Amino acid sequence: MRLKDKVAVITGAGMGMGREASVLFAQEGAKVLVFDINRQAAEETVAAARAAGGEAAAVIGDVSKEADVKRGVDEAVARFGKLDILYANAGVLWKDRDKSVIETTEENWDIVQAINLKGAFFLTKHGIPRLREAGGGSIILVGSISALAGFTLAQDSYTCAKGALISLAKSLAVQFGPDNIRCNVIHPGMIDTPLQAPYLTEEKKKAIAAELPLRRLGVARDIAYAALFLASDESSWMTGAEMIVDGGFIAM
Ligand SMILES: NC(=O)c1ccc[n+]([C@@H]2O[C@H](COP(=O)([O-])OP(=O)(O)OC[C@H]3O[C@@H](n4cnc5c(N)ncnc54)[C@H](O)[C@@H]3O)[C@@H](O)[C@H]2O)c1
Repeated sequence: MRLKDKVAVITGAGMGMGREASVLFAQEGAKVLVFDINRQAAEETVAAARAAGGEAAAVIGDVSKEADVKRGVDEAVARFGKLDILYANAGVLWKDRDKSVIETTEENWDIVQAINLKGAFFLTKHGIPRLREAGGGSIILVGSISALAGFTLAQDSYTCAKGALISLAKSLAVQFGPDNIRCNVIHPGMIDTPLQAPYLTEEKKKAIAAELPLRRLGVARDIAYAALFLASDESSWMTGAEMIVDGGFIAM
């Protein structure tokens, strides 16, 4: 029960790492507000968290819309009484539309920024006052190894949004540390989730795994455990930091 009596909002909690974290957090005693744009996926996550013995509720909304995110935060407090953990997990990787700067349209650049970066702005904007009311809390932002290294097949808007989250984490860490509010970033490597599914054949997965020091792709639980540590009081002296969970990719 590493998150006993804590309340979390997790965005993008309908699938992938957000779903896995929702179930794990609920198992560890947290009450979880599952925020996602996809109603069916969000409801499945709530059912999985409850089946695991935890408490969860869904709010359907788009992280790029301020009113939706505020509704999610307000609902968490209305339903569960307070808020301790903000997990800005929602993100999109649209390799068909988000490419190198010389190939990307302004419209595609903006929508990727709106989901991947502005979503975290809205969650922290509306969530931090609630964490303050609770006497502190933990904010987890989700970056990517693509914010730490260049790739020949570029998704430049995605990469820039993820890079900006590192700066946001440091700024929030310094501003709100005195309020006992911590903010850290997790940088996942290649994780086998629905986000990657359109781009990965079984053959490709094997080829990528063979190049990694730990010789396998990540699974959602690898990231959920990192998030659990950052959400819990075990990491209470850690803020403004980056946690790379990538099977050793960045070490190469
Ligand atoms: N999978 C990877 O290899 C990988 C690597 C590095 C970073 N990441 C990042 O990790 C996070 C989670 O990725 P994942 O692989 O679990 O993704 P996923 O696509 O499997 O799940 C993402 C969830 O976010 C929801 N979502 C999408 N747009 C939304 C919006 N506008 N508003 C609300 N919800 C929205 C989706 O419905 C889905 O349930 C993302 O920020 C992603 O960029 C993923």
